[in-house]
Amino acid sequence: GTTRHFNFDIRLRNMTRLCHTRSMVTVNGQFPGPKTVIREGDRVVVNVVNHVQNNITIHWHGIRQFRSGWADGPAYVTQCPIQTGQSYVYSFTIVGQRGTLWWHAHHSWLRATVYGSFVILPKRGIPYPFPKPYKEVPILFGEWFNEDPEAIIAQALQTGAGPNVSEAYTINGLPGPLYNCSTKDTFKLKVKPGKAYLLRLINAALNDDLFFSIANLSVTVVETDANYVKPFDTDIILIGPGETTNVLLRTKPTSPNATFFMAARPYNTGLGTIDNTTVAGLLEYDSSSSTSRKKLPLLKPTLPAINDTAAAANFSSKLRSLASTQFPADVPRTGSFYFTVGLGTSPCPRNQTCQGPNGTKFAASINNVSFAFPSMALLQAHYLGQSKGVYAADFPRNPPFPFNYTGTPPNNTFVTNGTKVAVLPFNTTVELVMQDTSIQGAESHPLHLHGNNFYPTKDPTKDPAKFNLLDPVERNTVGVPSGGWAAIRFRADNPGVWLMHCHFDVHLSWGLRMAWVVNDGPLPSQKLLPPPSDLPKC
Ligand code: C2O
Repeated sequence: GTTRHFNFDIRLRNMTRLCHTRSMVTVNGQFPGPKTVIREGDRVVVNVVNHVQNNITIHWHGIRQFRSGWADGPAYVTQCPIQTGQSYVYSFTIVGQRGTLWWHAHHSWLRATVYGSFVILPKRGIPYPFPKPYKEVPILFGEWFNEDPEAIIAQALQTGAGPNVSEAYTINGLPGPLYNCSTKDTFKLKVKPGKAYLLRLINAALNDDLFFSIANLSVTVVETDANYVKPFDTDIILIGPGETTNVLLRTKPTSPNATFFMAARPYNTGLGTIDNTTVAGLLEYDSSSSTSRKKLPLLKPTLPAINDTAAAANFSSKLRSLASTQFPADVPRTGSFYFTVGLGTSPCPRNQTCQGPNGTKFAASINNVSFAFPSMALLQAHYLGQSKGVYAADFPRNPPFPFNYTGTPPNNTFVTNGTKVAVLPFNTTVELVMQDTSIQGAESHPLHLHGNNFYPTKDPTKDPAKFNLLDPVERNTVGVPSGGWAAIRFRADNPGVWLMHCHFDVHLSWGLRMAWVVNDGPLPSQKLLPPPSDLPKC
């Protein structure tokens, strides 16, 4: 492989959307951030220099970081944040991965503006398992906030209320013509007739699952989370925050005299406030004569209703691995982990009025543990063998109430706070069964695991007891469906400390997160590498 160098300068930049200007944290002044294209086998070296007042880290979402957990990025898990005026070099090698991934800030809510695509091309001479596309186009869904996202979450954590929602969704940073004062900020995809385009879809929105569709065209899904799937055609894509999906779009053989909307809007079944607006972009056929462009009819796609769980489940159930040779099929000797994931509350501190449910504060948890970040990085404590006072190794394997396979268990009441981890011997096969719990209406939770891919083995549309052990797709994020179940398996063959969390930033901030500590194996090639000398200090 080649070594690829990148410079990420974290700096402020004024951006205007919806006639509203604000100063935002960016990488190299770009929004979305720079597109990064590399190849499988490459070594990636990114020098991140922090020129802003905010502390920051960068996470390479979906990159396995084999033995290089120091470069993974979640604040207080694998590193302390990069402080003002400081820099840190993220250095890692891409082993056995190709496809669409992305990078984003992993501290507070900075990822609202600090994110970009991370495209790994196959090794030279290795083709895609589908016809070579004429062009490849990253499509990043995001959210636009008129206010500072870090101030929004800080205020919500203070009052206990739900945070203010975004003003708009965006496609490649642009809200599109369905918002006020926004027509000029519309993403346009110019296409030629009779060609195949590979759209690399990335959901970088903070807090919303999205339905996406293009008027008058169906697409073929070929990849999710940088793993090939058995191709299938669909009009509707469901994409959760953190997830990536590659689709092939074949344009009509002759230019139809029309302009087509592509649009995305949320899928949500909770009762909380959300941004229920629609982002649209345009698909425009190149036509030789500009006169034929006049008075074109505008075609809009049909998107499912906001709470259409059947449409969501239908999409998820179609994802099947193209090959699953590495599937850890052995039944775990140590038994399964059973986690409840969902929203709860924590008591209101004395002398304060809280604005969460019934005067409490919103919290979120796994097995009723709301994860508290330590004051130093977990990975450092683990590496130095100094976990005392930093974390406890007693993350509960089971929920605090009996697990119920048929329905939603009782509402979570008060959660407990703690910095608890689950410790895994090297090479353990883990089976993890997760059930969605809820207050205020069930919501889906896009559960993301760092440093490891896993295989969702349970099909939420089928008998709850049935597991797909034949061709589950390999992923880094799985939606635990609203009021439902997900089960995953992974092999703990990557020594380090790996965060697992809901990729809705509001749930992450409320504590829906935990960490797996994977111990070193016996061989030198199975050990975590030593930390880089410029690792930030807390
Ligand atoms: Cu894309 Cu821990 O996140």
